[in-house]
Amino acid sequence: MQKLVLLCLIFFNFFAGALGQTQVNSLLCENRINPTGIDVSQPLLSWQLSGNRRNIHQSAYELRVGTSSKSLSQGKGLVWNSGKVSADQSVHVPYGGNPLSSGKKYYWQVRVWDDKGQASGWSPVAEWQMGLLQPGDWKASWIEPGFIQDSVSRPSPLFRKTFQASKKIQSATAYITARGMYEARINGQRVGDALLTPGWTSYRTRLQYQQYDVSNLLRQGANAIGVTLGVGWYSGHLVWENSKNHYGARTALLFQLNIQYTDGTEEVISSDNSWKSSTGSILYSEIYHGETIDARKEKEGWSDPGYDDHTWSGVQLSGDNNKSNLIATINEPVKRHEPFKPIKIFTTPAGEKVMDFGQNLVGWVQVRIRGNAGDSIVLQHAEVLDKNGNFYTENLRLARQKNTYIFKGNGTELFEPHFTFQGFRYVKVTGFNGEISPDNFTAYALYSDMPATGEFSCSNQLINQLQHNIQWGQRGNFLDVPTDCPQRDERLGWTADAQAFSRTAAYNRQVNNFFAKWLKDVAADQRADGSVPFVVPNVLGPSDMGSAGWADAATIVPWNMYLAYADRRLLEQQYPSMKAWVEYIRGKSQQDLWNSGFHFGDWLFYHPDDDLDGRAAVTDKYLITQCYYAHSTQLLINAAQVLGKTADVAEYTALLQRIKAAFMKEYVTPSGRLVSSTQTAYVLALNFDMLPEDLREQAALRLVENVKSYNNHLTTGFLGTPYLCHVLSRFGHLDVAYTLLLQESYPSWLYPVKMGATTIWERWDGQKPDHTFENASMNSFNHYAYGAIGDWMYRVITGIDTKEDAPGYRQIIIRPRPGGSLTQASGTLQTYYGQIKSSWQLQNGQFILDVEVPANTTATVYVPVKNGGTVMENGKAVSELKDIKLLNNDKDQALFEIGSGKYHFTTAL
Ligand code: BGC
Repeated sequence: MQKLVLLCLIFFNFFAGALGQTQVNSLLCENRINPTGIDVSQPLLSWQLSGNRRNIHQSAYELRVGTSSKSLSQGKGLVWNSGKVSADQSVHVPYGGNPLSSGKKYYWQVRVWDDKGQASGWSPVAEWQMGLLQPGDWKASWIEPGFIQDSVSRPSPLFRKTFQASKKIQSATAYITARGMYEARINGQRVGDALLTPGWTSYRTRLQYQQYDVSNLLRQGANAIGVTLGVGWYSGHLVWENSKNHYGARTALLFQLNIQYTDGTEEVISSDNSWKSSTGSILYSEIYHGETIDARKEKEGWSDPGYDDHTWSGVQLSGDNNKSNLIATINEPVKRHEPFKPIKIFTTPAGEKVMDFGQNLVGWVQVRIRGNAGDSIVLQHAEVLDKNGNFYTENLRLARQKNTYIFKGNGTELFEPHFTFQGFRYVKVTGFNGEISPDNFTAYALYSDMPATGEFSCSNQLINQLQHNIQWGQRGNFLDVPTDCPQRDERLGWTADAQAFSRTAAYNRQVNNFFAKWLKDVAADQRADGSVPFVVPNVLGPSDMGSAGWADAATIVPWNMYLAYADRRLLEQQYPSMKAWVEYIRGKSQQDLWNSGFHFGDWLFYHPDDDLDGRAAVTDKYLITQCYYAHSTQLLINAAQVLGKTADVAEYTALLQRIKAAFMKEYVTPSGRLVSSTQTAYVLALNFDMLPEDLREQAALRLVENVKSYNNHLTTGFLGTPYLCHVLSRFGHLDVAYTLLLQESYPSWLYPVKMGATTIWERWDGQKPDHTFENASMNSFNHYAYGAIGDWMYRVITGIDTKEDAPGYRQIIIRPRPGGSLTQASGTLQTYYGQIKSSWQLQNGQFILDVEVPANTTATVYVPVKNGGTVMENGKAVSELKDIKLLNNDKDQALFEIGSGKYHFTTAL
């Protein structure tokens, strides 16, 4: 029957498509496909329209939500039927029906009316499941092992519970979290495929639980639950000097299983003092240091019902049974992604056996090999080889990155760690006497399961490798929180790094939920006076806060997410945090000048080794603070405008004027020279509109002069770099921006590429031309901050952007700006509306541009032309085409507006 319905649906869609009818698909609830664990009262619903004609718009929609997919299609038992709503909104439409119940599954579908008033069919049915909404829904208690734990090596405890499911099971949902990390099993099978759960948040106020549909893992009769814990971020080593137990010394488990029987009754199995505990094969597990597994200590079948657990200890109820900090999981969990095989196994000059996986990645190596009982195999991880080709770990500082596996010796054994991850390209194998081959090892990349959204490529292979490196920098460092680096004893949510890269990140992947979750931690860890920590979650301390360009993540990231995804609710939720940060600065300022306190400044700016004549590009730190004060205030005004907070708009607009006036007085000479004659100084002043209009052109020229004085090299650090090319292209120096982008010698984006990098480096000169390294105390080879150029590559080279007053690509800008030696560039972006494409090439004096615009959006297209030349679309002048609205055609550029569809433009250039 089900098959028949599916066939009919496919058939119907096929015919609807052929007839040119508009269709609805790609349903999202809270930006995810069929999510479980929703704890907002009005989930946001989105859908996409499609059809095979141009200019499709939605004129109305109808949503229906029910408690079973069957009754939904009959329109019965609905909890909400929106009726026909005349509106073009197809993204983030709030649920508006009856109150939603804890743990319940809801089924929904939508149909639309297009711009011709034609109704689509109903979309396929999608679903979501609510989380536990009331504190009283939690029946489970926090439990800890019942035996005395070794507090030095801290082996992973196992928890076990058996129970009888007396009746036929209809469905079952597990709600699990831990103080530490957990991995759960039911009847021997892994629950879900999320890794490193429950993820990292500001645990004291926000601890995520995960929710799993485990109906298929349970059976009528005897069942068993087994859970392993690791110390994770909760109790593990974090930050420097081997400090640990940042949130508490005792790991603990919270587990609740809600079973629905077919007779309509419900049973709850939850963690309490009836559980049992023991230890197993994981002897040691630390995020920085790696894991030790002794397979001889494995308790075979320990999560099966038939296992004999009479030697196990009981458990103790945790002294801290707090559940008020529990929240559902907002972001996509960390999952296993690309596998890699060693491309080479070799012996280094120092005589060590090393594997090269060909890519600097973050994850772990799975080993499948045979050994003798008690023998071991040890894997150590490194990012680079040194000048002589030897395995190099100094830049890891105290992080050991070492996994040790001890064989039980009964045939081929499979090992991989559970509660750790490594940043590496090279793996050194020791302690193993047998032969090894690539077949024995598979490296897996682990990262948050954010859907991929953007692709960029062009005619220059080095730039393509740069894009690859940016993408891999993001994969490796978007591991539940945006981290600075994934390998040394750090791996923290550094705020500057995150804000600098956030817009690029939103091109490459759908990071809406990823950042929505992190921003709540930013707000949670914000000090009462509004100051924002250097790292979030904050594990540094209450005074490590308030640095310009770092703390501004509180305003910059919400605004960037709003531009990319147009989720007004996020802006609304972050608004108090944004405002508190601006108010903090205001409190620190005197006469509207923020010139006090500690600041990192333009971190890792160009600093030549032989800086005898003062060539280091040092930018006055307080000039920087003032620029960020203005920027954050501007973003607060923007947010206030969107949210209709008119009093705030007026107040902060007046403040902004004073901030800029104070800047002019303190840091700018009457002729417009800045007190720091650095690229970063000019970049920030210009990007944040600190200078009056009449001084901008000359300031941009000074920037260009400065670039030339360094022989066409950049000198910017973390704060100047993201805006450098934007400022140049905005003020008429596109050529200089391209020159910097295509520069191959150090300092530049392509220098690391030429040196064989597969990720973005922390420093412009992480490895010198003679292959020696920068100072090992700060030399990561996987740090995404300088990858912020990716935003310019998408927004300027391929020209894909959103209008700020119609964000989330509701009104698209396509403004490709060819330059440098590029002859071709192509970008695609999956938005909530569908795919945008901008792909251009220069061929025989022709500029050819292929554009794709998703339904229910419009795009303004800018095409460069020669001497006012005309633009053709598929062989016809655009001025003659009905479905293209020509807005302007001047000497250098033609400008027109289009609706959805595919377009092929050509013009002489
Ligand atoms: C981190 C950075 C961070 C910086 C601030 C470093 O240790 O790796 O990326 O922004 O500290 O000082």
